[in-house]
Amino acid sequence: MKVSAYKNSDKSEIQQLFTKTFSDSEGHSEGALIGQLVLDLMNETGPYDIFGFVATENEKIIGSIFFTRLSFDAPVEAFLLSPVAVQTNHQGRGVGQRLIHFGIDRLKEKGVKLVFTYGDPNFYSKVGFRLISEDTAKAPFELSQPEGWLCQSLDGCEIEPLSGISRCVKAFNKPEYW
Ligand SMILES: CC(C)(COP(=O)(O)OP(=O)(O)OC[C@H]1O[C@@H](n2cnc3c(N)ncnc32)[C@H](O)[C@@H]1OP(=O)(O)O)[C@@H](O)C(=O)NCCC(=O)NCCS
Repeated sequence: MKVSAYKNSDKSEIQQLFTKTFSDSEGHSEGALIGQLVLDLMNETGPYDIFGFVATENEKIIGSIFFTRLSFDAPVEAFLLSPVAVQTNHQGRGVGQRLIHFGIDRLKEKGVKLVFTYGDPNFYSKVGFRLISEDTAKAPFELSQPEGWLCQSLDGCEIEPLSGISRCVKAFNKPEYW
């Protein structure tokens, strides 16, 4: 299995991967929603505000992950990990964690200081994320599950409180994602 940055020619295969994987795990409407989200992320986000990676095996994409910029009033380089998917029949053999570690290593090389995500703490705690209070860093929208607001510091420093609101990239500007 190989992990690399996605290419424009991968877009439709990536959209299909997310649609199918999330349909399998959470039903068709969630699959369609997340498939559209990744397409919008790839089409509407400026090149400095997105990192996307694919895991391939025998030339087929079996997993994918996206990181997009999260801006605060404070001048901190921060990104949001979301979404990530591993094809249903390839789950549970380390592909998801490998994609996350690979992406985080690339972000570190670019000088990114904080990575946030919004998801299952049981899974993301395996790859270094910890619960963060909105008193420390506000999410861009009201969270339906505040216990899923997670963060990790990439420079080994304590996470200092970030004042003011946060802003996500355009494709995430829908309350239903939060
Ligand atoms: C979540 C997902 C990306 C993980 O990828 P993966 O390749 O299956 O995960 P890995 O094999 O690297 O890691 C497996 C570990 O994570 C745990 N894990 C996997 N999915 C989990 C979930 N949804 N909740 C809690 N733990 C989970 C497994 O129990 C396993 O733990 P172990 O190593 O202690 O046994 C994948 O299962 C997936 O695509 N799920 C459907 C879409 C989704 O929920 N995406 C995440 C939200 S954006």
